[in-house]
Amino acid sequence: MNILVLGSGGREHTLSWKIKQSPLCDKLFVAPGNAGTKALATNVPLAATDFEGVSDFVTQNNIELVVVGPEEPLVKGISDFLNEKHPNLHIIGPSKQGAQLEGSKDFSKRFMQRHGIPTAAYSTFTNQQLDEGLAYLETINAPYVLKADGLAAGKGVIITSDLAEAKETLIDMLANAKFGDASAQVVIEEFLDGIELSVFVLTNGKEYFLLPEAKDYKRIGENDQGPNTGGMGAVTPVPFADQDFMQKIKTQIIAPTINGLAEEKISFNGFIFFGLIKVGNEPKVIEYNVRMGDPETQAVIPRLESDLVEMMLACCKDEISSLPISFKDKVATAVVLVSGGYPAAYEKGKVISNIPTDTPESIVFHAGTKYEDTAVVTNGGRVLAVTSFGDTIEEALAKSNEGAAVIEWEGKNYRKDIGKDLLQFSNLS
Ligand code: AMP
Ligand code: GLY
Repeated sequence: MNILVLGSGGREHTLSWKIKQSPLCDKLFVAPGNAGTKALATNVPLAATDFEGVSDFVTQNNIELVVVGPEEPLVKGISDFLNEKHPNLHIIGPSKQGAQLEGSKDFSKRFMQRHGIPTAAYSTFTNQQLDEGLAYLETINAPYVLKADGLAAGKGVIITSDLAEAKETLIDMLANAKFGDASAQVVIEEFLDGIELSVFVLTNGKEYFLLPEAKDYKRIGENDQGPNTGGMGAVTPVPFADQDFMQKIKTQIIAPTINGLAEEKISFNGFIFFGLIKVGNEPKVIEYNVRMGDPETQAVIPRLESDLVEMMLACCKDEISSLPISFKDKVATAVVLVSGGYPAAYEKGKVISNIPTDTPESIVFHAGTKYEDTAVVTNGGRVLAVTSFGDTIEEALAKSNEGAAVIEWEGKNYRKDIGKDLLQFSNLS
């Protein structure tokens, strides 16, 4: 069948790389794609949010499966739109209503409350309730966690221990529309102290495939210093997520989420990324995302031995429980290479050289890259990720770091400490 992947990041390159390995895949298209996807698929110059353009492309190219990578088109309703125009099309990506799990923090908190899913205590304030919000901040303990309700490109969460700054932030968000419509409502929530991990499922809203869990590294600097980024690296499996803990995640978080979707008749066919935090020995939800993580995908998907297209079709056809799936019993690490200056301003168009050839042990996934004539040049903040396998975290990391070291462009930056914090957990690696 012909397959269309929407998006242009490392996540989409990795999904396309895996999809391309399936005997079920005939022609593979990526819109808009990057230099990495161009090597294995046909890049299509269409934005993932160009619904009409995507729909026309589906018709013209006999597309049978569309995989939506990023959240923005999902929150804007691309699945409903395509579904209405192409009733037989298989779509991986939830309905607009389902995408509210990521698109509105208030929606997701209310959903969790209705279904008894452990998460931080919270209150939501609209711009008419600024005074109540300011008074509420006085009644709770620091640190203060303020979240813009809507999508804010990963910048909508502010955590501060300074009450005056928290109040200032609330005023900025509600009264001064700091994040536009996204901060017309603000969720103020309890600060949770613990260690984070990401858990992924592919679900049809009734059953689910559980994918390997991963740990992400969000800060730009080593030892988790400096501003947040989209993600500087990922490691899977997560050594502190032992069987007992994973069981708690399944029974206390995943099952009630899927059952909640089914009970509320929220149409959901796609990935759920549970952003979790381990507080003591208990898992709590920090956030839902309605897509795979980036760069977690670059670590998680290469561990998948099963046919991803077969899994996606099983998801669309309600056949999840009859398809066994398997994963490589290896550690996978992804080290992300970024443009100098990122996550603040950075230059594009730098020529990249020395990209190592993929081996069974180490693969380079592209994110912000494109071709300029025959040269691969930088085209974004996060540029490449080197994913490597090993029997231990150290072994996988050594290979990822070696690959990251040899790649060259002016201003290249990467964290050399990805995964180091996990070495203290001796039960795995
Ligand atoms: P979110 O966009 O909701 O994932 O938040 C971004 C980051 O802020 C998370 O990955 C956490 O590191 C941090 N964070 C969010 N909510 C909380 C909370 N309630 N307690 C502690 N840290 C939080
Ligand atoms: N790596 C975090 C995210 O994809 O949102």
